[in-house]
Amino acid sequence: MNDSQDLAGRFRTNHDIIVAARQNMKQAEWDYVSGAAETETSLRRNRQALDSLAFRPRVLRDVSAVDTSVEFLGHKMALPVFLAPMGGLQRIDPDGAVAVDNAAEEFGVVNFVSTVTDPDLDVTAANSPHPKAFQIYVRGDDQWLRDLVRQVKKAGYSMVALTVDLAYYGNRERLNPSQMALRDVAHRTWQKRVTWDTVKMIQDELDGIPFMLKGIQTGEDAMLAVEQGVEVVYISNHGGRQLDYVQGNIETLPEIVAAVGGKAKIIIDGGFTRGTDILKAMCLGADAVAIGRLQAWGLAAAGAAGVARVLEILKSEIEISMGLLGVSHVDQLDANYVTPGKPVRFPHEMSAFPHLPIDRFE
Ligand SMILES: Cc1cc2nc3c(=O)[nH]c(=O)nc-3n(C[C@H](O)[C@H](O)[C@H](O)COP(=O)(O)O)c2cc1C
Repeated sequence: MNDSQDLAGRFRTNHDIIVAARQNMKQAEWDYVSGAAETETSLRRNRQALDSLAFRPRVLRDVSAVDTSVEFLGHKMALPVFLAPMGGLQRIDPDGAVAVDNAAEEFGVVNFVSTVTDPDLDVTAANSPHPKAFQIYVRGDDQWLRDLVRQVKKAGYSMVALTVDLAYYGNRERLNPSQMALRDVAHRTWQKRVTWDTVKMIQDELDGIPFMLKGIQTGEDAMLAVEQGVEVVYISNHGGRQLDYVQGNIETLPEIVAAVGGKAKIIIDGGFTRGTDILKAMCLGADAVAIGRLQAWGLAAAGAAGVARVLEILKSEIEISMGLLGVSHVDQLDANYVTPGKPVRFPHEMSAFPHLPIDRFE
């Protein structure tokens, strides 16, 4: 039996991945990854909004060949899925960002590399030739930022994102005192001064490398992004870790799709843990979905191979659900395939995994 068969036997579903992740993670790491801001309403609304959509499947169509691949800004991806930027991955696996990069390369998706990556952005870029995106947090003055963008360009990143939902660090009450101390790091204060001028400065420096704004949550800001020539609007509420009491991200998708009017690509994240979740976003006009916590849980369960297994499971869920929706390619999906539906359980970061003994996951 080879390794991937062995892993497929151990992790039949992402339930199994999460159980293994919980066993392998200390409480502090578990809380860091799974927690969110204050009442965690934003986190739960991400799930609630996904759970509040029902499908309208079409039947009697030939779905013998289902193709899950997409092209995103010239890059062929096995799934319409990005691995969302995550700092602190080395606390979960010693190889940190390189482990995620290996999984992305093996599976054929694009991974984001965070400003707070370990190993650093050059080492992670040199790890593999496949396309990856770099995510910027502004942690210095204009010269610091220009230097960072030059370094990112030189390292060969294919896309660059600026995260815009972190002017202040969200109040994450599950964090312990030493984790909370991270909030007071002086260089974080630069984030408070990030404006559309910063966006322009990065674009000038990038000189044509596709640029994304991560953390857009309204049609108004999406429209401004498009006016400023941003190539990708990345809808995110940071997994509910920043402002509490915002909408679930997929609720904002229709107004943002309307504001963008086809002039930019759209990525969305927040609570996406099932193939059906990803298809719902595609129905409502997203070009791709990014996964955060599920990526970290895969990493905690079995390192790079665990992340690749998470993607394999999502692919299989997507294939089956596409066939049952009556489509052979995601391009065929549109808003007619979804309708409002009542959620059947209380929303929670684990609510897509009803067979978990939830009290063991707190
Ligand atoms: C542990 C952790 C670390 C994160 N680090 C970053 C980061 O460095 N940069 C960033 O833009 N977003 C970061 N995020 C937010 C994710 O990119 C993403 O927006 C969010 O996790 C998506 O929601 P999901 O976890 O429900 O999939 C982080 C999220 C988590 C859970």
